[in-house]
Amino acid sequence: MKILVTGYTGQLGFDVVQEGMKHNLEMFGVGSKELDITDRDAVNNYVEKLKPDAIIHCAAYTAVDKAEDEREACWNVNVDGTKNLAEVAKELGAKFLYTSTDYVFDGKGNTPFEETDEANPINYYGLTKFEGEKIVRDTLNDSFIVRISWVFGKNGNNFVKTMLRLSESHDELNVVGDQFGSPTYTYDLAKLLIEMIQSEKYGVYHASNEGYCSWADFAEEIFKQSGKNVTVNAISTEEYPTRAKRPNNSRLSKSKLQNKGFTLLPKWQDSLAHYLNELNFEVK
Ligand SMILES: NC(=O)c1ccc[n+]([C@@H]2O[C@H](COP(=O)([O-])OP(=O)(O)OC[C@H]3O[C@@H](n4cnc5c(N)ncnc54)[C@H](OP(=O)(O)O)[C@@H]3O)[C@@H](O)[C@H]2O)c1
Repeated sequence: MKILVTGYTGQLGFDVVQEGMKHNLEMFGVGSKELDITDRDAVNNYVEKLKPDAIIHCAAYTAVDKAEDEREACWNVNVDGTKNLAEVAKELGAKFLYTSTDYVFDGKGNTPFEETDEANPINYYGLTKFEGEKIVRDTLNDSFIVRISWVFGKNGNNFVKTMLRLSESHDELNVVGDQFGSPTYTYDLAKLLIEMIQSEKYGVYHASNEGYCSWADFAEEIFKQSGKNVTVNAISTEEYPTRAKRPNNSRLSKSKLQNKGFTLLPKWQDSLAHYLNELNFEVK
């Protein structure tokens, strides 16, 4: 099976390519330099020439706060770029997997969101990712849409790396304690996406590591496992204003994954330990 992976220079796309190669799949990873997905002609030329059996679309404009001010750039990548890829996938009859986000939900309530719950994004990035979902559904009869949250992986910046960096200069940190969700380790998610793309179990899925926590809980566990002596003060969202609003409840229900016979991702604490090892930290 020949698979085109967008976002190869980012966190998830990189691990998806590595995982596919372990399964002897023919993997073609591209970043924006090799293929700018907003350029319709370039997308058509590249993909028609490559003729992949499947596309795993991990490229996105992911700067959530900046997106509030750079709306056009964000829309171009997340909506138009997705449309360009979905349309050429349809033309070629290639399978299509689109990665989406917990930010399609408004974060109300305190129970996990099901795939069938109504989307109601509260920031511009979330809105564009949901528009991307609609385009994928409208363009293709069958597709995979996988909503993920709080991503961390080796190839890129993320919360874990930020906390580790801050621990070099701080012995006390204020971290938001009233937004709840699940971290998603790209190494684990990549295994699921490769399993999924080889199946015909199309649909919308939620996928993240098992267990829920707040950002403050996540930070505490990072410092505990990496042996850093940093005190975490849990603060409220109001005390940490950001350009883009974030949902308080990002809990995603993964029961559909299980019902469809897919392997659930490990507990987030175990995946964090694996990740710290990957970064060459001695886990305490
Ligand atoms: N990060 C999170 O916490 C999070 C949470 C929920 C969902 N997601 C979703 O998960 C997926 C993967 O996210 P990630 O964290 O791995 O992303 P990331 O590390 O920020 O990487 C983004 C990727 O998108 C590519 N890209 C951006 N603009 C492009 C363009 N015009 N043409 C082609 N490629 C372009 C980048 O390529 P270059 O670097 O080469 O420009 C890069 O490879 C995305 O769909 C994202 O929306 C992420």
